[in-house]
Amino acid sequence: MRDIFNAIQRSARRIKHAIDVKDIGYSQLENSSGEMQLQLDIQCDLIIQEEFSKVASIHTIASEEKEREMLLDENGKYYIAYDPLDGSSLVDVNLSVGSIYGIYENAFGTANMVAACYVVHGPRVEMVFAENKTKLYLLQDGEFEFVKEIRVGDKGRLMAPGGTQKNWAPYHKNMIDSFFQEGYRLRYSGGMVPDLHQILLKGGGLFSYPGTSDKPEGKLRRLFEVFPFAFIYEKSGGYAIDGKNDLMTLGHAHIHDTAICFFGSKYEIDRVKEVYIKNA
Ligand code: F6P
Repeated sequence: MRDIFNAIQRSARRIKHAIDVKDIGYSQLENSSGEMQLQLDIQCDLIIQEEFSKVASIHTIASEEKEREMLLDENGKYYIAYDPLDGSSLVDVNLSVGSIYGIYENAFGTANMVAACYVVHGPRVEMVFAENKTKLYLLQDGEFEFVKEIRVGDKGRLMAPGGTQKNWAPYHKNMIDSFFQEGYRLRYSGGMVPDLHQILLKGGGLFSYPGTSDKPEGKLRRLFEVFPFAFIYEKSGGYAIDGKNDLMTLGHAHIHDTAICFFGSKYEIDRVKEVYIKNA
């Protein structure tokens, strides 16, 4: 695991450099989710692939930018699914972006997840790595220094409501409105990594990406986005559900499957469950 931790750190330094120097232009390629692929996405994917190829314990990787899984070493035991640069179009407007990693033993699948990690590229580069506990590291003078352990409180004050509002179900809209009526403040950048990072570090709140009339199964991908954050939130004392069920009990049929998802602290997640069990 230490080798994987170090490979992620090497990738993060190289990705920071790629973001700092890269001309931002759209390539003509589409990724498997049908979005226009930024040149920078491809570059970050290749950086991570190259760094993971140096780690003998990694059996297989799956990237949000690749259609299929890729075998690295058949004697390895770890399977890693990653999103090399989530929210990459935000680089154009100089907002924070990030890489997300889910680390599994012997096969992909929530029951086999043993660690998860993300790296935020913002004004500073930070890494959050969860195994038994969730730990925050800060890149300083080229090295990642341990800062603190992260714990989520029982109730927060921030609300990050994803998805196109006109396509929300009425009960979902009423629920989000009710949180705002209670005094919750809107914090939504459109980047999953900084939005979930903010809620974690500010002690709690709710990030939601519901099923909508145009995307009934949500938008965020199980292996590349949803499962790693579910693992990280749960190891930090927070909660992660699909409305009714714990996200860490869900399966996946295809590596690019999506899921409806809610991440947050106890108070907000209890309300989501109450509403969704009654309505959805
Ligand atoms: O999956 C890409 C992504 O940019 C996430 O980082 C983010 O949380 C989400 O999409 C935003 O989607 P929307 O603009 O539909 O709320």
